[in-house]
Amino acid sequence: MLLRNNWYVAAWASEIEPSAMVARRVCGQALVLFRTKAGTITALEDRCIHRGMPLSQGGECEGEIVRCPYHGLEFDARGVCTKIPGQDQIPAGAKVNSFSVVERDAMIWVWVGDADKANAAAIPSYAYHRDPAWVWSRDTLEVNANWQLLADNLLDLSHLQYVHRKTIGGNPQEDAQAKLSATRDGDRVLVARWLVDLPAPPFHKAMCGFAGNIDRWQEIEFRPGFIQFYSGATDANTGAYEGRREGGMHLRHLHCITPETETRTRYLFSVAHNFRIDDAALTQRMHQLAVATFLEDQALLEVQQRRLAEDPDRALLDTRNDVGTVYARRILMELAAAENGKA
Ligand code: FES
Ligand SMILES: [Fe+2]
Repeated sequence: MLLRNNWYVAAWASEIEPSAMVARRVCGQALVLFRTKAGTITALEDRCIHRGMPLSQGGECEGEIVRCPYHGLEFDARGVCTKIPGQDQIPAGAKVNSFSVVERDAMIWVWVGDADKANAAAIPSYAYHRDPAWVWSRDTLEVNANWQLLADNLLDLSHLQYVHRKTIGGNPQEDAQAKLSATRDGDRVLVARWLVDLPAPPFHKAMCGFAGNIDRWQEIEFRPGFIQFYSGATDANTGAYEGRREGGMHLRHLHCITPETETRTRYLFSVAHNFRIDDAALTQRMHQLAVATFLEDQALLEVQQRRLAEDPDRALLDTRNDVGTVYARRILMELAAAENGKA
């Protein structure tokens, strides 16, 4: 199931360098992204109106226009054809489809759904990419699995102790005691997992020097295609659960889950921290840990995708950890039904 009427992160802003032509696919739609000389980010259909050549495959961005690599037709940033070599007249309406695109918080957001429903005000804000109190790093994986499987994975953290034994892991006895809550708020799901008054794991000790027991939280906010993850820890019994979270360790992971097709997903993630922000080696270490962790997820999700595809309609069993997952799946089904005129 794909949802076209939704904003998706197609790229990191830094990937769209001036004059670069970057190919992307969102909900089946082939796109070419580029930045004109004036700095305008543009998303056009990656298909020339002449003979269907992908503009991204050798096309050139020059000033405010792009040129098709095959016979040199030129288009402006709205996709309107401005030049046909060897021909004076340009037929009315000669245009490559264009899509709404917004550059915000170091990300390039695109809308490939109904043009009249694109509302940039609906794009979630992400302060950790622009707040100088935080440092962050970013990366991308291309995962051969349906986007819903990535959301499932992030919303049910009981997999940590099994899939991520070698990376971020977890203690099975402690994890089994985690306090869970999951709530739905419109088209968002909030999942919280709290580990109260337990010894600090080695990672936490190394990062922040915790000596005694700590209170840990993992809070996840799901929106279709955009999942924020806030984890942290403070000394035990200092009021973390009542909202007093000064000091300690705070991490913000962002997961942009962009469906390219039913079976392929562009997974853009960032890792931000607000402690030891001048310690570049630490930032790099946390980045590498995140990449190693998500590669473990990727390997698993791709195998899972292949097995599910053998019998896609067969029912699955939900457990007590799946409340958030079930809410998220329901939201996607409702939005997809509305999009298809079935709601
Ligand atoms: S296919 Fe683009 S100019 Fe011919
Ligand atoms: Fe994972």
